[in-house]
Amino acid sequence: MTQDELKRAVAQAAIAYVVENEIVGVGTGSTANFFIDELAKMKHKIKAAVASSEATAQRLRDHGITVLDLNEVTSMPVYIDGADEITPQGAMIKGGGAALTREKIVASVADKFVCIADGSKLVDQLGKFPLPVEVIPMSHAVVTRKLNALGGEARLRLKDGKPLLTDNGNMILDVHGLQIADPVALEATINNIVGVVTVGLFAQQGANVCLLGTAEGVKTLQ
Ligand code: 5RP
Repeated sequence: MTQDELKRAVAQAAIAYVVENEIVGVGTGSTANFFIDELAKMKHKIKAAVASSEATAQRLRDHGITVLDLNEVTSMPVYIDGADEITPQGAMIKGGGAALTREKIVASVADKFVCIADGSKLVDQLGKFPLPVEVIPMSHAVVTRKLNALGGEARLRLKDGKPLLTDNGNMILDVHGLQIADPVALEATINNIVGVVTVGLFAQQGANVCLLGTAEGVKTLQ
């Protein structure tokens, strides 16, 4: 199976976690896009969705799915999203699509985080994928120095030769070369650096369920 076929398979499996007549939180990225396309097939059975990025909101609306502002929502049973890396314990690196802050905010409102990923994302230890950190633009140099002091090599993410700006108007530093033995502790350490908006480590609140696409079928880790 191709990687896209594995992503589509986990997106289809995730539909079983969508609660009818409720609001669903929707992530960002290519796997989340497959999920949105599946969700569209049952859109009349859900109340609405909350999006973790402008791109996701647009795709949901294109399918005729109502998108609510998170400020109008007090609870949602489930948030469904992809990951760049995930451990068997459910700790993740996210932010390859630069949506980490909104993803973490929407996930924080949900009762359950269901991660959908092809099998290549499962790792024993996080850190091979460069760790995204969203920063306030005026702080990118000082935060770079502080991240490098932690043992990584932070690089400003560029798009068309210029710093990429997130949906929140911030910049992304991708930290290479970290071996993340204690993701919960590192998440707290990096979030405490002044100028950091969010680190793309989802460990304090990780995935409750991971649907992993493999050649043998979709495996459920929980
Ligand atoms: C976006 C994310 C994505 O979930 C992550 O990058 C995985 O993307 P994909 O499903 O395209 O592999 O965190 O910020």
